[in-house]
Amino acid sequence: MQLNLMARTHELPTLADTCNFIKSLNKPCVAQLLAEAKGTGAVAVQPRSGVGGHGEMLELLSRIEAEANPDILTLTIDSYSRLGMFDHASRILHQNPGALNGYPLVSHGWRRGRDLNERTKQPLDIRHGSPISDHLFETAIASGITSFEGGGIAYNLPYAKKVPLEESIASWRRIDRLCGELADQDIIVSREMFGTLTAVLIPPSTSLAITFLEAISAARDGVQCLLIAYPQGGNSLQDIAALRSIDSLARRYLPSGPRVYPVLHQYMGPFPRDKAKASALILLGGLVAKLGGAAKVVTKTYEEALGIPTVEANVDGIRLTRCALARIFDFIELDEATITEEMRWIEREVIELVDPIVGVRDFHKAIVEAFKAGRLDVPFSPSIFTMGDVIPVRDPQGAIRYLSCGGLPFSETTRRRNRELLRETAAPKEQLRQIAGDVHFFSDQSDAYLL
Ligand code: 5AD
Repeated sequence: MQLNLMARTHELPTLADTCNFIKSLNKPCVAQLLAEAKGTGAVAVQPRSGVGGHGEMLELLSRIEAEANPDILTLTIDSYSRLGMFDHASRILHQNPGALNGYPLVSHGWRRGRDLNERTKQPLDIRHGSPISDHLFETAIASGITSFEGGGIAYNLPYAKKVPLEESIASWRRIDRLCGELADQDIIVSREMFGTLTAVLIPPSTSLAITFLEAISAARDGVQCLLIAYPQGGNSLQDIAALRSIDSLARRYLPSGPRVYPVLHQYMGPFPRDKAKASALILLGGLVAKLGGAAKVVTKTYEEALGIPTVEANVDGIRLTRCALARIFDFIELDEATITEEMRWIEREVIELVDPIVGVRDFHKAIVEAFKAGRLDVPFSPSIFTMGDVIPVRDPQGAIRYLSCGGLPFSETTRRRNRELLRETAAPKEQLRQIAGDVHFFSDQSDAYLL
């Protein structure tokens, strides 16, 4: 079987050894944890975290656990490893581990991965951004880490300029098939799809169409636990509608198969530097996760605008998010009619993007061709394999709309609605300034929303 083949090539443990290790761990896996949370209506809370040195990583995880008790812990992988530059990551690890912006798991090796796993109480998740991810995945599984973010589209187009989509999709299909093989051994790997994309004014339907295409592919290849992550955009009714749409889209596209969990990424765009404003945005993210029915929320910190957070800021972000999820906010009542209306439109847009592709026999080729022709697109992507013709902008309420639909196969009804909602948009000469302002909606450059 393929996993044993990998054992020979990369000196990994055998599949049997890894399965035994995972079963011997004294903690739930993410798939179990989410199933239990869904049963009780709880929202799991997860920070991001990663430093270069092993001892430092263990200390970071231990402090986060002791001081904030998140439900899931993260190994954020360093940028060299994300790009497959493992030799480079290893060299820096030996010279100056503090210079790495994350934990180089492949360089440290699976034995240290197991060490982190055994010495923490909560399950670990790997967050990275690797278009080609086989080696990292194998090391994660050998470490007993069964929660892995990414997919063949959303971990390529926002991050890489020249990696062909065929190659990243092939890598992630190998990973998803291995998840299927592991499921045969009762090891359920949870796979989170990165709907944040470039984190720059992503219209909800673009995020959801791409994560669902990845999820459909993963489910066909054997994945049994899927997380659809959606990034907080800033208009809370739109964000809640997008999160709530995930259940009905899952019923349409993944009717009988994997469990599907909605996830909120707290605001991923430029953050305010001001601590109070940043905290307000984090609190709002927690509320959106709660009201949108997310199963999990991935947290930000009040140091987001400054760089990689200190442990104190990370702890604060988790605790503040927990406050947003608490009963103290149960009094909030929403404009349900507006949310239902917004859900209807989001779902319609997703269906118009996804339906022409799901029916095609060579589904993956259809995805590649759709990006080539602009029938799928990622705003502000650096990749030469996208058209980059879609232009998003905020409407007067701050919701993200399509100013230009580019080559997307939207109906005239969908196009008209976007046009109508943007009636008050700046004249063409001013549009660039408006788009830049919309990107910086919450940053210090714009005081309109977070006074
Ligand atoms: N530790 C904590 N957060 C990190 N991020 C990136 N690297 C790390 C790290 N090593 C966060 C960024 C951004 C998100 C994409 O990941 O601050 O919020």
